Amino acid sequence: MFIYRLLLKTFRNYVNETISFSPGINVISGSNGSGKTNILEAIYIASHIKSFRNCTDKDIIQWGKQDYYISVHVENADISTIEVGASVTNQQSEKKVKIDGKEKKKISDFYGRINVVTFFPDDTTIISGAPDIIRRYFDRLISKVDKEYIELLTSFRKILKNRNQVLKDIPHKRDIIKQLDIWDSMYSDCASALVMKRKHYIEHFNIYFKELYKELSGFNDNVIIHYCPSLHNNDAVDIKHEVSKRRNIDVKMGTTTIGPHRDVYVVNGNENIAFKSYASTGQRRLASIAMKLAEVNVIYEVKKSKSIVLLDDVLSELDDDRRKSVLQKLIDGSNQVIITCASSNDVNFVDNYKHLKVVNNRVLEK
Ligand SMILES: Nc1ncnc2c1ncn2[C@@H]1O[C@H](COP(=O)(O)OP(=O)(O)O)[C@@H](O)[C@H]1O
Ligand SMILES: [Mg+2]
Repeated sequence: MFIYRLLLKTFRNYVNETISFSPGINVISGSNGSGKTNILEAIYIASHIKSFRNCTDKDIIQWGKQDYYISVHVENADISTIEVGASVTNQQSEKKVKIDGKEKKKISDFYGRINVVTFFPDDTTIISGAPDIIRRYFDRLISKVDKEYIELLTSFRKILKNRNQVLKDIPHKRDIIKQLDIWDSMYSDCASALVMKRKHYIEHFNIYFKELYKELSGFNDNVIIHYCPSLHNNDAVDIKHEVSKRRNIDVKMGTTTIGPHRDVYVVNGNENIAFKSYASTGQRRLASIAMKLAEVNVIYEVKKSKSIVLLDDVLSELDDDRRKSVLQKLIDGSNQVIITCASSNDVNFVDNYKHLKVVNNRVLEK
């Protein structure tokens, strides 16, 4: 699948802009702060509905305006248009998503309908950052390829919230402890399904990741991502038993202390040594790039469709050979690539690309 047209209205610095892309490599150049990443942000929102920036719709809407609108036109996909509109009036925020003109309300109906994979300079935090960063990364990846997963995750979060509320209230209203039985059953069913899916997808992911890291780094280092669930069981009945055995601790802590929300992913190298304990900044960068390339492969394996790959100022961080190698892998897989860079010199080794230049809040075709 590829995007051939993007329309932005009062989105960040763009008033009303139509941008055409080629199915191959697209390069967006422009000075710092000109609005290159904003274009990638719009494409990302069309796939993930939220921005990758930690911001609200109000921040995205053009200053002084009340709403923004994005429409993405794709080809070689089972859909042709995604529209996202958001408005903020009197501090009330409203967002609408339409696919092929029909409004979609359920997150599983629009999340990941277009395959978007991003490469950002700070992706190394997936490897070196807090456990929730890598957990969120895999949650997003699996949600993009497995509709059931995102539904399970949504239910799980609601059940967890309710169970935690009961746990918090118990010290004041002792008799509500009975309510935990019903929440524990629902919790265990959902947790079991999530854990099984996480186990399944990490296995597929590692097959690609291991080889890609070796190829890119040139080291014969067996880097693998281990999924370590916080629960000791997979089966819902066994999980319920495990959770009820922890009940006293949960009541004392006022929160659910075991479950998928506490799962960790550990990146290990040779001899099972923690990767982050020895890897250089460069190796972490290559590992994070190998993860994104593995993601493109997993998406293709499951959905049998190509991805739209967004690279935000990442190429300049790599040496010439690796830059070529990363791009070559993406091109060989016939993925659409959209690259931002301050200067098109960063891509001068690429033979054939569409060049877009951002000048004075307009996107010009070079
Ligand atoms: N809500 C907004 N309304 C208008 N302009 C915005 C808004 N948010 C950000 N901008 C503009 O976008 C610029 C940043 O764009 P960005 O795409 O991150 O730049 P870069 O080309 O460096 O990637 C800021 O300098 C700011 O002027
Ligand atoms: Mg930028």
